Amino acid sequence: EKGGHDYFMLKEIEEQPSAIADTLRGHLVEGRIVLDEQRLSDQDLRDVDKVFVVACGTAYHSGLLAKYAIEHWTRLPVEIELASEFRYRDPVLDRSTLVVAISQSGETADTLEALRHAKEQKARVLAICNTNGAQIPRESDAVIYTHAGPEIGVAATKTFTAQVAANYLVGLALAQARGTKYPDEVVREFEQLEAVPQAVEEVLESLGAARALGQELAPSKAVLFLGRHVGFPVALEGALKLKELAYMHAEAFAAGELKHGPIALIEDGLPVVVVMPSPRGRAVLHSKLLSNIQEVKARGARTVVIAETGDETVKPFADHLFELPQVPTLLQPLVATVPLQVIAAEIARARGYDVDKPRNLAKSVTVE
Ligand code: BG6
Repeated sequence: EKGGHDYFMLKEIEEQPSAIADTLRGHLVEGRIVLDEQRLSDQDLRDVDKVFVVACGTAYHSGLLAKYAIEHWTRLPVEIELASEFRYRDPVLDRSTLVVAISQSGETADTLEALRHAKEQKARVLAICNTNGAQIPRESDAVIYTHAGPEIGVAATKTFTAQVAANYLVGLALAQARGTKYPDEVVREFEQLEAVPQAVEEVLESLGAARALGQELAPSKAVLFLGRHVGFPVALEGALKLKELAYMHAEAFAAGELKHGPIALIEDGLPVVVVMPSPRGRAVLHSKLLSNIQEVKARGARTVVIAETGDETVKPFADHLFELPQVPTLLQPLVATVPLQVIAAEIARARGYDVDKPRNLAKSVTVE
């Protein structure tokens, strides 16, 4: 049941704190990160010298975030690739390659075929999946299940944030196996993850403002999204939600690229959503993005700014401001994505579309 909500997706957006908490639960046992199913030895994990992440759609955006976390914690090179492209370009794989396949359904044909290709090349395969016993986890050497519960809305919301949490568990498991993090550091990172559901709760309290903004932006022709570092995948996911739900042209750019082309798109009244990094954690990137907001505003854009609470610097340039609780940099996407999900759903609703069943889309696509 929709639990008193206008559409399932809104209920699922509100379930994100428990989706994240349930995904983390049971993965720290006596100070060590454990996976759900593991047919790989500790030595196999230690031998990994390169990671590929393959996924489609929203799962791909969660995979972009895996790259930041795994590289940061393990110093292993990580490549993220759209599953549909992966096996058609002869990627360099061998038994010391770990391929992480992320799929809510566990049945997506593109992702399954990428996984099979990786296995043929002797790579180890780890699945992140929301569906027990689905094909992708069945064919994998190790699994972490996201515990988001069934997702009715075709456009993914709670499974995205749960995937991000699961990706970070992979990063911590690798860091632990490789010794790039001391055991107490791994525990501390895990505890910070465990604090995220509370931060998401705080964001959900300001959902009313996001809904109202969605209504206001509904007549727009297009929306641009800007972000940097972990804010870039958030921007991509915000744009994808808008395409899927509101059938609106939406594009996300790494904000550093603005000056290399997309700034030509800025015109009077164009909504531009900017995902700001923390001024504490990422001061340099923060100042660069602040300049970007000023640049687009000077050209007439209507600025929607997602920023850390207490960030006074953005206020003069934000036509609309969403404040996020202060969380560590890698965890910011888990809170920053939430208002973007709500804005997209509300634009769709204001336009009279079926938020839970967007046209032309299927929840799981089992053809290549
Ligand atoms: C698409 C769905 O077809 O598949 C998206 O409409 C989803 O919402 C993508 O993100 C990947 O699906 P899965 O099940 O592999 O995560």
